Amino acid sequence: MSGEDAPAPQQKPEEQTKQETKANEEPKAESKPEPQPAAEAAAAPADAPAAAEKAPEEEAFTFRSLVLSGHGGYDKVKLQVKKGKPALKSGEVMVRVKACGLNFSDLLGRQGLYERLPSPPVTPGMECSGVIEAVGEEVTDRKVGDRVMVYYRNGLWQEVVVVPASSTLQMPEGMSFEEGAALLVNYITAYIVLFDYGNLRPNQSVLIHMAAGGVGIAATQLCKTVNDVTVFGTASASKHEVITQVGVTHPIDYRTRDYVEEVRKISPKGVDIVLDPLGGSDTHKGYNLLKPMGKLVTYGAANVLTGPKKNLFAMAKTWYNHFSVNVQSLMNSNKAVCGYHLGYLDGDMEILWQVANKLLDLYRQGKIKPRLDSTWHFEQVGDAMRKMQERNNIGKVILLPEPKKEEPKKEEPKKEEPKKEEKKDKKEDKKEKKEEKKEEKKKEEPKKEEN
Ligand SMILES: NC(=O)c1ccc[n+]([C@@H]2O[C@H](COP(=O)([O-])OP(=O)(O)OC[C@H]3O[C@@H](n4cnc5c(N)ncnc54)[C@H](OP(=O)(O)O)[C@@H]3O)[C@@H](O)[C@H]2O)c1
Repeated sequence: MSGEDAPAPQQKPEEQTKQETKANEEPKAESKPEPQPAAEAAAAPADAPAAAEKAPEEEAFTFRSLVLSGHGGYDKVKLQVKKGKPALKSGEVMVRVKACGLNFSDLLGRQGLYERLPSPPVTPGMECSGVIEAVGEEVTDRKVGDRVMVYYRNGLWQEVVVVPASSTLQMPEGMSFEEGAALLVNYITAYIVLFDYGNLRPNQSVLIHMAAGGVGIAATQLCKTVNDVTVFGTASASKHEVITQVGVTHPIDYRTRDYVEEVRKISPKGVDIVLDPLGGSDTHKGYNLLKPMGKLVTYGAANVLTGPKKNLFAMAKTWYNHFSVNVQSLMNSNKAVCGYHLGYLDGDMEILWQVANKLLDLYRQGKIKPRLDSTWHFEQVGDAMRKMQERNNIGKVILLPEPKKEEPKKEEPKKEEPKKEEKKDKKEDKKEKKEEKKEEKKKEEPKKEEN
C-alpha cells in the first residue's frame, strides 16, 4: 500500500491534539495524536484557527469514530471518542451518521492490501447515510435535516463526518438509513460492470461470483430488470435458497464443485458476461468461459484474502496467476476484457451520481432493494468483519455508530420459593401416604380378628 493519496498531511499538528480520545474507551490508541480521517481532514481549513479560538461548546463536542491503528487482524480497528467539533469549509456539509456500509475493501484495507486507504492511523469507511446537521457557505442544494447517502474515499466510519456537499445524495422517501448505507458502493459497482461494460441485453447469460454478497445480490437484482437473463451464481451451498429467490437461475457451490464444468453442463458454449471479483486463476477460467462477443469485467482480487491476517502465499499465488492477454489473441477470440475500480473514479463524481440516480429510480419502482445481512454497533466491528471474512454474510453488513444499549437484566424468579413449595408438597405427599397406609392397616386388622 503506497498511501500516496493520504490526505493526512492537510492536518495541522495543533488540530491533531484536539482529537483527544476518552480514556475509558481506547486508552492505548488515545495517547497518540493521530491524523484525521480524510472526510474530516478535508474539512480543516488551510488557515484553521488554533484550538483556543473554538467556542467552549465546540470544544466539548464529542463523537465516536472507528480507527484502523495498524495493519493486521480484527483487533486493529479501535473505537475512539474524539473531541472537538470538526470545522466546516465552504461547499461542505456536516452529517450525523446513522449507518455505515462494510465493504470487502475494508477487509483488504485492514490487512494493508487496499491501496486507496491511507496508512494507519486512519478512519476507514467509504459509504454511510445520515442527516445533515450543518451546511457550509455556498451550499445551495442541501439543508439542515436532509437525509443523505454519502460516498467518500475513506473516513466515514464516524458518528459525525464533514464532506463536500457534492459527495452526498438525497435519500428517497421510505428508504431506511441501513438501506441508504448499503446502496452506493454495491449497486453502482454492479450497474457499471453489468450495463456500462457488460452491455447486458435480453436472453443473455451472466456468471456472477460471490453471488450472495453485497455486489452479488445487487448484480442479480439488476439482471432481473432485463428480460430472460440466465444467471449462474457461485456461492456457499447454505446460501443457495436465498440467491435463487433473489434471481439466480443456477446456483453453484464453488466449494465442492468445479464451477466451469457446472456452467458447461448447462450452457456448453459458455456465457455472455463474466463478473470477476476473484482474480488470479479465476480470471483465466472466466475468460475461457466467454462465448464469442463475450465480456469479462474484472473488479476485484478476493482470492488474496484467506484469513484475518495477510497471507503472503495466497497473495503470491494470486499475482502469479494474474491474467494477461495479448491484443492479437483478444482480437482473434472476439472477446473483451474490462477493468473497473470505484476507488479511482472518485474524481468523477458526475459519473457516479448519474448511475446512482438511475439506481434510485429503480429503487422507487421496487425493482431493486438492498438485502441487509446484519447490523452491528461500532463496538462490534471485529465481529462484523469476521462475519464477512468467514463467508457467513448474505447481503450487506452494516455498522451503526450509536452505542450498543446494555440489555436490561431480567429478574430471575426466586428459586427458593418453589423449592420450599416442592418440599412442602413432598412432605404432604409422604404424610398422606403414611395416613393411607395406616387406614389400610386399620381396615386389615378387623379382618384378622374375624379370621
Ligand atoms: N472494483 C471496485 O470498485 C469494487 C467495488 C465493490 C466491490 N468490489 C469487489 O467485489 C467483491 C464483492 O464485494 P462485497 O463488498 O460485495 O463483498 P461480499 O461479496 O459481501 O463478500 C463476502 C462474501 O464473498 C464470498 N467470498 C469469496 N471469496 C472470499 C474470500 N476469499 N474471503 C471471504 N469471502 C469470500 C463469501 O461468500 P460465498 O462463500 O458464498 O461465495 C463471502 O460471504 C470483492 O472482491 C470486492 O473487492 C470491487
